[in-house]
Amino acid sequence: MLDAAQTTDVQAETLLEVNNIEVIYNHVILVLKGVSLTVPKGGITALLGGNGAGKTTTLKAVSNLLHSERGEVTKGSIKYRGTSVHESDPAVLVEKGVIQVMEGRHCFEHLTVEENLLTGAYTRKDGSAAIQQDLELVYNYFPRLKERRRSQAGYTSGGEQQMVAMGRALMSRPETILLDEPSMGLAPQLVEEIFGIVKDLNEKEGVSFLLAEQNTNVALRFAHYGYILESGRVVMDGPAAELRENPDVKEFYLGMSDEGRKSFRDVRSYRRRKRWL
Ligand SMILES: Nc1ncnc2c1ncn2[C@@H]1O[C@H](COP(=O)(O)OP(=O)(O)OP(=O)(O)O)[C@@H](O)[C@H]1O
Ligand SMILES: [Mg+2]
Repeated sequence: MLDAAQTTDVQAETLLEVNNIEVIYNHVILVLKGVSLTVPKGGITALLGGNGAGKTTTLKAVSNLLHSERGEVTKGSIKYRGTSVHESDPAVLVEKGVIQVMEGRHCFEHLTVEENLLTGAYTRKDGSAAIQQDLELVYNYFPRLKERRRSQAGYTSGGEQQMVAMGRALMSRPETILLDEPSMGLAPQLVEEIFGIVKDLNEKEGVSFLLAEQNTNVALRFAHYGYILESGRVVMDGPAAELRENPDVKEFYLGMSDEGRKSFRDVRSYRRRKRWL
């Protein structure tokens, strides 16, 4: 059944459709227990939840990166623009315009910032002038990277490395970026800066995002729609503005409630009202 926001937005084309997937690691550990979500064109969709909820696993299932971790999608389907992408090679996804920015912002530490960015263009066949133009586009969004273009990536700050990872993804001219935990380990001001860039890329370049985040507060301020994962299941979803006002989300994920501020950490699962279950 469609809810109000989805019906009003029914024109938005669906890019990614994850339907009831189950993921098992090492043949026995059931981690995703039937996750469904959709990413519309032009949207920022947030996938929220605490440690171990299954956010990274969901993104890796989409981009077919589970095999190297002995993980497997054992049920359900994953479609991009209506075509099944489950079982296809990760490179096929990149060709379709879907690219993942991994958690922990993996850079090639011994390469310079600019060399790292250029590695993101390896699948492109449109020549060096176009690539050069996109390099300038990346520097336009990330002026700090232009300043540090000749620096060895391994010696740049955590925030700069996050920017390198995102800039490298942009160099493949993606339609959709799967962005895993961009706020991790960054100071609040830098988190704002990174999310501000995500918003700009979404609005000005039309890039769609599926954004995995533990930082519910910032993610719900920038995203249009959110899904909350707990122990491998979607326990709630809705337009970001509605989730921000939901009393349970406020109490358990935004650290505030009528009784006063409460940290998510202080809330043991047995104490949760879980009125959504
Ligand atoms: N390669 C693996 N083998 C076995 N279990 C795994 C593997 N990778 C992840 N898991 C388990 O799957 C569950 C979900 O992990 P996942 O990394 O998807 O969570 P997450 O929501 O991204 O958490 P975080 O916010 O800490 O990054 C966890 O219980 C984790 O221990
Ligand atoms: Mg993760």
